[in-house]
Amino acid sequence: MIAVLGRVDQVARAEASVLISGESGTGKELVARRIHAKSRRAAGPFVALNCAALPESLLESELFGHEKGAFSGAVAQRKGKFEQAAHGTLLLDEIGEMDLRLQAKLLRAIQEREIDRLGGKHPVRVDVRILAATNRDLMAEVRAGRFREDLYFRLDVVRLRLPPLRERRGDILPLAQVFAARFAGVNGLPLRPFSAQAASALQVYNWPGNVREMENAMHRAVLMADGPEIGLDAIDLASPDLARGQTVRPSSENRPATQKATPFASDGIAALVGRSMEEVERDLILGTLAHCLGNRTRAAEVLGISIRALRNKLQDYRAIGLPVTAAPGYAAMGQ
Ligand SMILES: Nc1ncnc2c1ncn2[C@@H]1O[C@H](COP(=O)(O)OP(=O)(O)OP(=O)(O)O)[C@@H](O)[C@H]1O
Ligand SMILES: [Mg+2]
Repeated sequence: MIAVLGRVDQVARAEASVLISGESGTGKELVARRIHAKSRRAAGPFVALNCAALPESLLESELFGHEKGAFSGAVAQRKGKFEQAAHGTLLLDEIGEMDLRLQAKLLRAIQEREIDRLGGKHPVRVDVRILAATNRDLMAEVRAGRFREDLYFRLDVVRLRLPPLRERRGDILPLAQVFAARFAGVNGLPLRPFSAQAASALQVYNWPGNVREMENAMHRAVLMADGPEIGLDAIDLASPDLARGQTVRPSSENRPATQKATPFASDGIAALVGRSMEEVERDLILGTLAHCLGNRTRAAEVLGISIRALRNKLQDYRAIGLPVTAAPGYAAMGQ
């Protein structure tokens, strides 16, 4: 992490776009915020937009804003994220999820430094620095025709790759200690050290959900621990099935779409026979989401489907009244 932060500090003061890549939960947004904080734009706003969180039509007006009456429901003029980020930094998160039509508009906004509000008559000048984050291999998306090559090169002036936690095991214990201290403080609990067994379990675990998973695991551990130390029994890492599925799977950045580890042993399959595809799919999706503590990005990655596809499924489930795990609010923990 220190190596990454060194590069962050190097590029922060430039105006260049930065493409931040890394698996879900590795700290991409954290790094984006630091780039902004260390830049000459630090006094300006930092605005983040998750491109996967909204359907195309809404994403466009979210990015570029709209004039009053641009579409039914546009009762007043509204500034988009580009204008909200004026003289500051705009983080386009999950940029790989943006559709090709919007990519063209984004490219124009970056190149011309002006945007068109929906329903607007004149372009509006904008002064923003663009940071983009992705957990996909964007070059592979370019090759597959899903991402514009010209936009890729615009965004990828500087590239920062956040390695998964399992590739920087030296970070594991220091991070675990930081989180344990933080959650002890938040919950008014005593600060307990890890037992030797607990520490070595943390060290050997593969952390498929990276730092976010660690953060959640440490929150649970702090709440579960009693006695003088945080022992192994307080540490509840991912279910063995999912963990195994993760350990044999190459990182999402270079995983061919057709090659996926199956979490089911053959006796697992036997237990599924007699159930419909729809049912099994639903249970798998909801179970994975709950396992990922409501983190949709992570759940989609584990499931090997797009965030968009996951979101549509969850909408269907909610519509028929099924409980869907939501991500916990982190606001209280200083984010
Ligand atoms: N080096 C670090 N030190 C302290 N906290 C960290 C570190 N890296 C990540 N975190 C924390 O881990 C969590 C996940 O980080 P972040 O949201 O930046 O990841 P991300 O790569 O954007 O994930 P996603 O792809 O799922 O959006 C956040 O709560 C963040 O504060
Ligand atoms: Mg993020």
